[in-house]
Amino acid sequence: MMLRPMRPSDAEALHEVWSDAEAMRYWDWPPTRDAAVTRSVVARQCEEAKNGSALYWAMCVDGRRAAIGACDLSEIDTHHRRAEVGFLVAREFWGQGYAIEAMRAIVAYATNALKLERLSARTHSGNESSARLLKRLGFVREGTLRAFVWREGTRRDCEIYGLLLPRSLDEKPRVSASRKPRPSTSKQASRKRK
Ligand SMILES: CC(C)(COP(=O)(O)OP(=O)(O)OC[C@H]1O[C@@H](n2cnc3c(N)ncnc32)[C@H](O)[C@@H]1OP(=O)(O)O)[C@@H](O)C(=O)NCCC(=O)NCCS
Repeated sequence: MMLRPMRPSDAEALHEVWSDAEAMRYWDWPPTRDAAVTRSVVARQCEEAKNGSALYWAMCVDGRRAAIGACDLSEIDTHHRRAEVGFLVAREFWGQGYAIEAMRAIVAYATNALKLERLSARTHSGNESSARLLKRLGFVREGTLRAFVWREGTRRDCEIYGLLLPRSLDEKPRVSASRKPRPSTSKQASRKRK
């Protein structure tokens, strides 16, 4: 599995995942039916990565041209040295360890290249596979954000996870980034579509 910076042309593969009701069960937004919406979100994320406020990667496996998923670092704050992680894998690739492999590389990249000292993740309550993944990575559940998300007429609780990063990690990151983020402030709003 390798990670490379997301490109606008990844929209087609990502639409397969974003239109899958099961994969989107615990997402802030319902499945996206319109491929044009996916294209515009992916294009916007690629633009966002250029100014460094967030970084998005496509997950690729041998023998398959299309991405199998995506992961990101958003809300990158170089003053407070923190960011938020996100991840999503096509259903046919669940249970094979791709997400954990990708996230280990992202954690190493955040530590070694970006010099971040804290990562957080927000999951919808009940998203057990994400909770397992985060705990395997060493994230600790820090609390519940009550009724944090409004989705399709219902308010949902979210869980916040945090990981404090060491000054460096031995693991060599297998992730390529287009560019390093610029300094940001914690007040910068993220336009991430989670
Ligand atoms: C969250 C998500 C990425 C997790 O995917 P996943 O494939 O279960 O995650 P991992 O890569 O950690 O795989 C771990 C599973 O693969 C199994 N596995 C098989 N081969 C493996 C290997 N070589 N290495 C590690 N794990 C392996 C593990 O036993 C584990 O199974 P378990 O969860 O039943 O114990 C996936 O469920 C998803 O895309 N969900 C929808 C999007 C979403 O909700 N994202 C979170 C937003 S915060």
